Amino acid sequence: MFAASRLTTAFLALVLAAAASAATSPTAQDARVRELLARMSLEEKIGQLNQYSSRELKTGPGSDEDLVAMVTRGQIGSLLNVIGAEETRKWQKLAVESSRHHIPLLFGLDVIHGYRTVFPIPLATAASWDLALIERAERIAATETAAAGVHWTFAPMVDISRDPRWGRMSEGPGEDPYLAAAIARARVHGFQGDDLAAVDTVLACVKHFAAYGAAQAGRDYFTTDVTERVLRDVYLPPFRAAVDAGVGTVMAAFNDLDGTPASANAFLLDRVLRREWGFRGFVVSDWASIREMLEHGNVANLHEAGLKAFAAGLDMDMESNAYRDTLAADVKSGVIAPARLDAAVTAILTAKARLGLLDDPFRYSDESREKATLLKPEFLAAAREAACRSCVLLKNEHGILPLATGNITVGLVGPLADAPYDQMGAWHGRGRKEDSITLLRALEQLLPPERLKFAAGCAANDLETAGIVAARRVAEESDVVIVAVGEGADQSGEATSRASLDLSGPQLELLREVHAAGKPIVLVLLTGRPLMIEAVEPLVDAILVAWHPGTMGGPAITDVLTGAYNPSGRLPVTWPRSVGQIPIFHAQKNSGRPQPKSASDRYYSHYIDSPNTPLYPFGFGLSYTHFEYDQLRLSAPRIQPDAALSVTVRVRNAGARAGEDVVQLYLRDHVGSVTRPVRELKGFRKISLAAGEAQDVSFTLTPAELAFWRADMTFGVEPGTFSVFVGANAMAPLTASFEVEPAVRAASR
Ligand code: BGC
Repeated sequence: MFAASRLTTAFLALVLAAAASAATSPTAQDARVRELLARMSLEEKIGQLNQYSSRELKTGPGSDEDLVAMVTRGQIGSLLNVIGAEETRKWQKLAVESSRHHIPLLFGLDVIHGYRTVFPIPLATAASWDLALIERAERIAATETAAAGVHWTFAPMVDISRDPRWGRMSEGPGEDPYLAAAIARARVHGFQGDDLAAVDTVLACVKHFAAYGAAQAGRDYFTTDVTERVLRDVYLPPFRAAVDAGVGTVMAAFNDLDGTPASANAFLLDRVLRREWGFRGFVVSDWASIREMLEHGNVANLHEAGLKAFAAGLDMDMESNAYRDTLAADVKSGVIAPARLDAAVTAILTAKARLGLLDDPFRYSDESREKATLLKPEFLAAAREAACRSCVLLKNEHGILPLATGNITVGLVGPLADAPYDQMGAWHGRGRKEDSITLLRALEQLLPPERLKFAAGCAANDLETAGIVAARRVAEESDVVIVAVGEGADQSGEATSRASLDLSGPQLELLREVHAAGKPIVLVLLTGRPLMIEAVEPLVDAILVAWHPGTMGGPAITDVLTGAYNPSGRLPVTWPRSVGQIPIFHAQKNSGRPQPKSASDRYYSHYIDSPNTPLYPFGFGLSYTHFEYDQLRLSAPRIQPDAALSVTVRVRNAGARAGEDVVQLYLRDHVGSVTRPVRELKGFRKISLAAGEAQDVSFTLTPAELAFWRADMTFGVEPGTFSVFVGANAMAPLTASFEVEPAVRAASR
């Protein structure tokens, strides 16, 4: 496929000259890009705007272009899914040798929760509420990715989702904009580090801009209908945080928003992203999302699609073939201003310059570094720690956990107990099942064979029930049974919307059979989203949500079950009782009829067949110790609208072992120019306390936390009464109130 030619003398001279001039400062890079742009033809410029996927690995319905021919002709600026030092080197060589200006390719890949060392899925690490841990995980992911020749990850995915029917909830930060914004910053820093030119950092891409997680009915790729206020209050904050953290690129979403697909949505791509937020990087489409406008029905042909997308601010076309063939004519005819084209090309070339590719196109394609870097023991240790810290303990009765494994026989059943592929979850980079350590393997390290009995019982996604008998026998022969059920990797992630969120296949039947054996049961859920377990909950003594925990899932779950790690994860999403409650989230509005007026009143906001409350609230999670909250204090009873308020609470570890808690602060603005949520997360802190230890935890509320998009669509604070609630989840009872004084008084101070 590749001509085995050697680097041309001209190119070598260029590389050497560049290395000698070491154009590392942003100003020098900008000058270099300007100079390069000035020498490029119209066709060469348009070439930079096209992105295609490797034919070996496709992550969408692909076209079948001749990539070698296109790279040779300079028609490609970026390839995705080309992986590995050797492979990237081959393609890079082709690009720099055949293009007149030796412009290198940018290699992109979905590194969503690890490259080769697979970390827990993003929803899981969101459950850690541990920003340092999240940043570290992405730092490691970037180190491995960059060592494999890849420059650019299509992450972080920061789509707020309040609908677990949507399979992509697994890739994101959960339901809350405040938590999601903090996570977005941590992930961007983790990937990009302080210096994009370092060989262990990669360019990040915040996605999917915007409101993709609001897909109606939880159906992937489906339309969204959110008001501008909800968009700005709920869906945009994590994107804004990523932009403020310096994210290099943004990916436009598949969905249409207010009638215009995100890929051609000038309100999003131009007004909000560039003009309001000052974004200076470039925007890439989602896979064929420009072409898909033909299906959306807002354009009549591909030419129009490309024109609209480019004019709206979408710089790089992933797999639509929309820019390649028609953009030149539009520039020549003046429909597209040359300045718009130059801005897009400049942003792409600048990314290449910042990565150091204009100095040395092969700097990331180093096979010896690749070999030495992947799956380092310290990376595996970090993945194990991340998986421990992501586990959420939802139930623990009769102190069944931590398990005293000293002299008991442990039964292990369930399709996810020994599922090395499935535990990696969706979008697991280049993770290999051979590297995954399952719960079965980890328990085998801990227990002698005669005290560990195993039978999978069934699969998570087929109907075969023959194995359940063996699982029942395991339960009968054991003192305690661990049941590992949930979703396989291919049951969550992209294009995996589910109308039912019950345990799939015969897993419920398996659980009932095991229960009939009469032994204590520990349920371990491996899943990409909340599953409906209200009927299951009474059958089991403990419930541990391990999500899809990645390569080191087995050892991590074992650490938690045995108490080597005291669980500290807290739900980043509200856990519904039933699909009928969806969408359900803590920052709901009060409505005009929040509760009955009398015992016989039925005209209030409720279900006649279910409580309104979730099975487990947002922020919830148990520990092997317990924490008490008291002495809630505010620094002042009244503040000016531009002032800050400090909120302090005393937290005490009232149990017998050390543990961590996530102290959470929620806010309610009682009367607004528009209705306000009953509670909104506005602060959190993960703390560690020894048994019996107490600590004062303080938060500062500034206008940024008190402000919202007011009736006139300005962002600011309104006077009136506010309540704070501090505690261990979104239903925390401890509360205090304060007043924000009218702005006039602030002005007359
Ligand atoms: C997904 C994106 C992903 C892209 C490239 C699309 O189908 O929506 O999240 O980055 O494919 O793999």
